[in-house]
Order: sequence, then structure tokens, then C-alpha cells
Amino acid sequence: MTATTSNHTAVLQAQDRAHVFHPSTHMRQHAAGEMPNRIIRGGKGIHIEDTEGKRTLDAFAGLYCVNVGYGRTEIADAIHEQASQLAYYHTYVGHGNEPVIKLSERIIAKAPAGMSRVYYGMSGSDANETQIKLVWYYNNVLGRPEKKKIISRWRGYHGSGIMTGSLTGLELFHNAFDLPRAPILHTLAPHYYWGGEAGESEAEFSKRCAAELEKMILAEGPETVAAFIGEPVLGTGGIVPPPEGYWDEIQKVLARHDVLLIADEVVTAFGRTGAYFGSDKYGISPDLITIAKGVTSAYLPLSGVIVGDKVWRVLEQGSDKLGPIGHGWTYSAHPVCAAAANANLDIVDGENLTGNAAEVGAYLQSRLHETFDDHPMVGQVRGVGLLAALEFVADRGAKRRFDPNLKVGPQVSAACLAGGMIARAMPQGDILGFAPPLIITKAEVDQVVEITAKAVDQVADQLAGQLA
Ligand SMILES: Cc1ncc(COP(=O)(O)O)c(C=O)c1O
Repeated sequence: MTATTSNHTAVLQAQDRAHVFHPSTHMRQHAAGEMPNRIIRGGKGIHIEDTEGKRTLDAFAGLYCVNVGYGRTEIADAIHEQASQLAYYHTYVGHGNEPVIKLSERIIAKAPAGMSRVYYGMSGSDANETQIKLVWYYNNVLGRPEKKKIISRWRGYHGSGIMTGSLTGLELFHNAFDLPRAPILHTLAPHYYWGGEAGESEAEFSKRCAAELEKMILAEGPETVAAFIGEPVLGTGGIVPPPEGYWDEIQKVLARHDVLLIADEVVTAFGRTGAYFGSDKYGISPDLITIAKGVTSAYLPLSGVIVGDKVWRVLEQGSDKLGPIGHGWTYSAHPVCAAAANANLDIVDGENLTGNAAEVGAYLQSRLHETFDDHPMVGQVRGVGLLAALEFVADRGAKRRFDPNLKVGPQVSAACLAGGMIARAMPQGDILGFAPPLIITKAEVDQVVEITAKAVDQVADQLAGQLA
């Protein structure tokens, strides 16, 4: 408790420290009250508000999920109405409900070509667990029991479960959890800034990524490799748009070796990149797609696996051979979550938020470039639509990273917060990420850039002072 913290907040903080186990948090420091402990009580538009009445511009939309912004009563009303009408009935053995039927029809209508059915879960992690099971089941039905390996990328993020944490290619999510587990393998991160070799063009780097993938498939034996999973734009691994030609090259390799493609669109689906699906933006034709976050803008938890025709036909054969599929969650296709999703997508479509992400996103990218391209501490400005990142380096010419102990990324994020804005320090590098709600305006983007510029300069000055 600081001198100015109200008694109400101080009591909540003490209770929080005593009883709540927070994700991605230093457990001892939190319990000991050695780190900030902010209690959020409200939100409106692109701002959140804490129990001290302090408003903060949320330039990360929660965890890139509150796409329609906070406080949308249309969604709250839809949730209330559906909970009053039918709060729950399961969807096992052919039971349906109206909101989920409507939702599935509209998702399939807008999804990339060739999609067939949607299986629902509650989180991106459980949806990717479903993906792995479906890929294994698919190959078992086809009589290829050895074709089970799944290739992911270093820096990919696909969740925090046992298998999905294994798919994730970030050490933080593996350390001390005995991950990754077989049969998951990781190939090159599609990160040209760090991965490109001297004299290598972006297109050549993409070809090398594809060649490395093919080498791995051949070394393992194509008859053992079932699927490749990737986010159209690397998200938590640093917000990195794919290098030029990357997805074309990767898809050629997958087609040659009969390897399924899972597009993890948990962040990119429903407008974030300026296209409805990231797959459409980058010419990706996936066999399976993962969705979550933006489907409800996080007003309620909901995720989905969109199954393409090719896989669906085999799953149907599986039922004829094996009986009903042995996979189900109690809350799959929950009617209240589906009602929230429909109300959310009504806003996304009605307010053309995909178009806004394209237009205001282009403005965000250009403002970031004009402000930071020449900044001595910024190695790269990158992004697409309303997804962007600044990567901080100690030496631009030599591409030398800062000493991780300096925690430059977290310092800039903290300075932004002090300036009234949330931008996220991303793992594995000094990276500041932006993914504001898709309703953001150009005037608000100006605010984001202004607060960030001050924060970056402030940290640069502090570092210069320390290193002098
Ligand atoms: C691309 C991607 N896939 C999967 C997940 C996991 O989703 P969840 O945290 O809902 O389990 C995330 C979460 O950030 C994600 O960004």
C-alpha cells in the first residue's frame, strides 16, 4: 500500500496476495507485496480503470483479445438474454442450440475456402490440444499410425498445456515443466531481423526456412510427420510478420510430404491484421484453423477448431469405423458464450472493424516508423494491421542486444504505464508490443505514439546515465 492507496484497494490487494495464484507472475514477489498489484474494476472503449479510479489506455487490448473495446453493453445484454433463455445444455450426441448454430454458420461463411465444421472449446490452449488429437486420430483412421510428429517454430506461441506448451517455442514456457514433449519438434523462427544472414535477402531467408523444414521432415521420415503449426504472424514470440514469400515456400514443402497445416489464428482471426483471417492476408490454405480471443472479444471464454473438408471427411470415416469420437468438453459450444460471440461479431461486422484495423493500422505502422526508425535504441519497427512491435537493441549497426539483466523492454513498458498507457513487454528479447482494440481511432494512435516516444526517450536517458 502506498501513502495514497485507499483502504478499499489495500484490503483487496492483501486478499489478492493471500489467495490468488496469478498466471505469469513472480509468485514470491507478489505474495510479499514487492511488485505492483493493480486491481481492475472497469473499462470503457480503449481504457481500463482500477479501484483507485486511475484510467489507463490499453494499447494491448487485454491480451490482444478485447477487440471491440471495453464496456460494450450489446454483448452484456446478449449474455443476459441467453443465460435467461438457456444457460446451458450440452452438445454431446447431436444436441444443438440456436446461438452456436448461427455462430458456426457465420464463421464457416467468412473462413478461408474449404472449411467445414467448428469444434468449440474455452481457450486457445484447449483448442490446440484438440488440434493435436484430431491430427493423430486422422492418421490412425487412414491407417498411418506412425505419422504423428508435429512441427512448430521456435518463438511460436500455442498455449500453456502439456502438449500445447510443447508446441510453444519459448523457453519461459518450457523451463522446469519438463517440456517440450515428444512428438513435438521445432524449426526455425521466421524472424528475418535476427535470423537472416549477411547478404541474404528476405525472400532468400524464407526459402532457407522452408529448406530447413524440409530437411527436418526428411531426416525424421515424412511417414512420421503429421502436421505443421504456425501463427500467420508470430505473436507472443515478438509480433513478427512473416518474411516475404514465407508461407508460399512453407506450403510447397508441406504439400510435397503430405503434412497437414494448422493455422493458429487465436490472435489474427476476426480482423486484427486488417483481413478477416490472417490466412487470407498471407495466402495460407490451412487444413485446420484455431480461433479464440477475438471471437468473443474475451467477454466470455470461447475457442474453436475450424476443420477443413479434407480432414472432416476422414473424421466421418473414423466414426463409421470406431463409433462416436471420444473427445468432448462439458462446455463445448456453450450457448451463452456463443451468444456473446454473435453479439461481438455483429459489432465487428457492423462497425467494419476489419476495415478500421486496415486503415488505422496502416496509420499506426507509419507513425511508429516515422517516430522510431532512426531512434538509436530501436533496432526494428515492425507490424501489420493493429499488431506492432518495437525491438530495442544496444547497438543498431552491430545488431547487439542489451544485457537481459537491464530489462530494457520491461523498463519501457513500465515508463509507458507511468505515462498512462499499457504496451506489453514481450518475452525473449527487449520487445514492446502493441495490439490495441480494433475500435481505436487515429487520434488515439497519436496518443499511443506520443506516450511511447516519451517512455523510450526516458529509458534511453536513464541507460545513458547508467552506462556513462
Ligand atoms: C497464437 C496463440 N495460440 C494459442 C494461445 C493460447 O490461448 P489461451 O491463453 O486462451 O489458452 C494464445 C494465447 O495468447 C495465442 O496467442
